[in-house]
Parts: sequence; structure tokens; C-alpha cells
Amino acid sequence: MKFSPFMKVAPSASVMMNSLALEKKSKGQRVYNLAAGEPMVDTHPLVVEAAQKAMQEGKTHYPPVAGIPELRAAVTEWMNTTYATSYTAAQSLVTCGGKYGIFALCQALLEPGDAVLIPAPYWVSYPSMVQLFGGVPIEISTEETNGWKLSIADLERVWTPQTKILMFNNASNPTGVLYSHEEIEKILQWANTKNIIVISDEVYSGLVYDGKKFISCGSFPQFQENTVIIQSCSKHFAMTGWRVGFVFARQEVIKTLTMLQGQSTTGTSSISQWAALAAVQNASEIIPLVRMAMQERRDVVIRTFEESFGKKLLTPSSSLYLFISLALLEREGQSSEMFAMELLEKANIATVPGKAFGKEGYLRFSFGDVPAELELAIIALAAYIKKPGSLA
Ligand SMILES: Cc1ncc(COP(=O)(O)O)c(C=O)c1O
Repeated sequence: MKFSPFMKVAPSASVMMNSLALEKKSKGQRVYNLAAGEPMVDTHPLVVEAAQKAMQEGKTHYPPVAGIPELRAAVTEWMNTTYATSYTAAQSLVTCGGKYGIFALCQALLEPGDAVLIPAPYWVSYPSMVQLFGGVPIEISTEETNGWKLSIADLERVWTPQTKILMFNNASNPTGVLYSHEEIEKILQWANTKNIIVISDEVYSGLVYDGKKFISCGSFPQFQENTVIIQSCSKHFAMTGWRVGFVFARQEVIKTLTMLQGQSTTGTSSISQWAALAAVQNASEIIPLVRMAMQERRDVVIRTFEESFGKKLLTPSSSLYLFISLALLEREGQSSEMFAMELLEKANIATVPGKAFGKEGYLRFSFGDVPAELELAIIALAAYIKKPGSLA
């Protein structure tokens, strides 16, 4: 039988660029990988030890579908004390990364034709996930000149009676924008009057810099009914490969997602869950270590860029990325996809094109790698851009 898939799934651009970079590396080429969306620091020894202990103690069987009770209790306690939320453990779910939580929510909530508002630039996977389940992604463009912030006027302009969900990403990939208490309250208030569900993707909440404060959408009890929070161990615990994420929502949503999980993943690895428990229990020690390392790396990239290019950059308040305009890179008007491929092929620098985030005219640079590597990457970038006639 001819394989002709019913579902048309677009590849994730960041995963694709990262894979191309790894492929080049495996062939022995010197590649600067600024495409990978992860902090390149080892997972904390306390977490690794907890995983080893779990294996030795035979905690290697199917876990409860919604997650081991110890982890659900601990992560709920962490959320409530760190971000002033008021969830119960029954309102939490352990998933295979934050990504599966968003995927499952789209599957559970969307009916064909439902509109999902997605502020752009957005995380690459949102529109594809919405489309997979018959939803219609409605992009709302935000601008660098407004600090990449979404306004109520923007929301009003695109709302229709078909609007079901607002996909809100704070702190943001790829812009690093961080919303204030007042700004979030206004957005949640607006969503409440329109009876829209807000999926708040907060997986970068621990990677917030310069002493700034992260505000969770879950910390507004008056709007909790229609708010769903996505959390993850990937970024602030440097645990991308362990695949542990969380959903916080009202209990009936969690029950539906649990059933969905029971028919799909059966939950995430039991070993990873015991490791995640150690991470959450030691959050006050581990998160600052990862955060400090990432802030230092952000500053190294910005300093090297400004010295090499003689131009100022917008300093991101959070996450792991610089979203830089092609104008600053002296390639205004060029396609971001073509420029990203050119950089990879000719300068061995992997980035992700702005188009994949719904914003042409930009490239995303991850600063998750070690400082010495980042410095060399930016110097190589500047050298490539400044070298006249380097284009084939
Ligand atoms: C904004 C955002 N949300 C969710 C995820 C998913 O993270 P994970 O599935 O590793 O928890 C990512 C990963 O890059 C992300 O950038």
C-alpha cells in the first residue's frame, strides 16, 4: 500500500536546524550551534542520583497515568509557594514535557473551525499543533518597537465568536519578553469577558534575569477557571532529555487530559519522574544555578555582538534567545530562511529563521551554549557578514 499520510505535519524548524547542525558535526565539521533551545549545563547531580536510586529500587514499572503522587504534590507545592498560585495536586498532571501538555490540550479542547489566537513571534509548534486538530491559528503580530508586547487592542481586532483559546507565552521564546502583573491582569480580564481559555506556557519562568519577577497567569484566582498553565523541568532545571512537564488546570480538564494520556503515552518515564521530584524538592538550589549561568551567557553574547558589530541589541529579560533583525545583521530584505541556510552551509553557524516564529526579517540565536563557544560563534558571524564577496 502506498503510504499517504492523512495528517499533514510540518517539521519543527528549530528541531530541524538543530538536527542539521548535529549532522554536520557528526561529519567532523566545526559547527557553532545557536539553534538548540536548551541550556547546555549538566543536569544537577542530586537529580541524576535520584534517577539512579529509582532504578536500583526497581521503580521501573508503569507509573500512574497522571504522574506519581509524590511528584504531583511536590510540584503543586512549588508552584503555589513560588508563584502565588492556589492549585491542589488533583489539579496537576505530569506529561512528557511541556510540549505534550500543549498538544493534548489542543486535542482535547479544539473542534474543527475553532480559532486560536497566537501572538507572533510565537514558539514554532503552536500553529502546527492547532492545525493538527482542525483548529484555525490566528496570528497576532507584535513589534520590536513595542517591546514585543501584546495589547488589548490587538486582541479586540482579531476576536470573533469562533475564538476559543489564547495561546499566551510568558516568558517568551523567541523574544524573551516578560509581562508585568498589570499587563497579565488586563489580558486575563479581557479573555474572561470573552469566555476564552488562556493556555499560559510558562516553561521559562525560572530563566528570568536582572532580578526581575515572573508573574504566573495562575496567580489570579478570579480567572483560574479558564486558565491553564504549562510548566516543565526542561529549561530551568536543565532537564530537556528527561521529558517531564506539567499541566495545571481545573480538575475536569486534568481528568480529560489524563484519559487522553492513558490512551497515548501512558504518562512519562517513571525514572524521570523520580528524578524530577528531586529537582522540584531542590528547586531553590538548582534553578538559581541554571539562571545565573544563562544570564552570564546572555551577557557574553550581547557584549560580543555589540563589540563585533558596533550596534546595540535589545536585552531579553528572560528565556534563552536573542531575536535579531536582519537589518542589524546587514541583510535587510533577505529571506530569513535563506539567510539561516546560508549561515549554516557557508559559515557553519546554526540559527533558526524568524519566519518559523511567524516573523520574517529576524533570526533567533540561542545562548544556551558555553560562553567560550558563544563568543567564537558571534565572532565567526561578524567575520562572515563583514567579508565582502563571501556569497557564492
Ligand atoms: C515556549 C516553549 N514551550 C514549550 C516548550 C516545550 O518544552 P518541553 O517539552 O521540553 O518541556 C518549549 C521548548 O523549546 C518552548 O520553547
